[in-house]
Amino acid sequence: MLVSSRITSISPKMTIIKSLSNMTFLAIALCLSSAITQAARFNVTNTCPFTVWAAAVPGGPSGGKQLNSGESWAIDVAAGSQNARIWARTGCSFDESGRGRCDTGDCGGLLECQEHGTPPNTLAEYSLDQLNSSNSDFFYISLMEGFNVKMEFSPTSDGCPRGITCNADIIQQCPSELRTQGGCNNPCTAFKTDKYCCNSGSCRPTGYSNFFKNKCPDAFTYPKDDSLFMNCPGGTNYKVVFCP
Ligand SMILES: *[C@@H]1O[C@H](CO)[C@@H](O)[C@H](O)[C@H]1NC(C)=O
Ligand SMILES: *[C@@H]1O[C@H](CO)[C@@H](O)[C@H](O)[C@H]1NC(C)=O
Repeated sequence: MLVSSRITSISPKMTIIKSLSNMTFLAIALCLSSAITQAARFNVTNTCPFTVWAAAVPGGPSGGKQLNSGESWAIDVAAGSQNARIWARTGCSFDESGRGRCDTGDCGGLLECQEHGTPPNTLAEYSLDQLNSSNSDFFYISLMEGFNVKMEFSPTSDGCPRGITCNADIIQQCPSELRTQGGCNNPCTAFKTDKYCCNSGSCRPTGYSNFFKNKCPDAFTYPKDDSLFMNCPGGTNYKVVFCP
């Protein structure tokens, strides 16, 4: 996946830096790079008519929370976080120590996730402050681990393009061979073959990936999907809404 990169103007700083010694260069470079990376706040809201157990890796500070219908959860994510994700778990029960299990999205039986969930789970994925894309964030919705809950993923700060929504009734229409308790599996999860998982390089859309694509055109549906993903300036805040 490629990000269009716009080169920001850093030439005045570079001129100054060049006139300094190597040690000073290093110190200033470190200061600059930490000064331009910024944390982000994610407001996660459950507007589904049922309870979900929201999950976030990395968390901020915790990695999971029960969200009854109408409830929200604010997560603060560290600057520079990469390959980060937020998702909903369904059909969970936890004991008082926060151990239990979920039908979808379960993360090793913990209420407060420290690792990714078990498919199927609709994913809000993002990376913050990518220096190779002009220090911008990027984000997208992925169905590459299947679908469990409808989702919106949008910036709440100015200076960004639109958000992304996957609001189709994918569970109802899920092909029976992909259907599972509480969700609809991606064919890679269900069949684990190269045709769907693209392990050996090239692969093409399939009937199954087209099923997901037709329902949610803006979501990633298979590994070589060239869906656009969204760029925002570093420091942008976001919302993730379940059942928008
Ligand atoms: C999160 O979003 C909900 C629903 O829009 C809103 O009521 C709440 O005030 C927001 N929370 C924060 C911390 O922004
Ligand atoms: C930026 O570069 C790193 C390391 O090469 C890579 O893992 C990451 O995917 C790149 N980010 C984007 C947005 O292309």
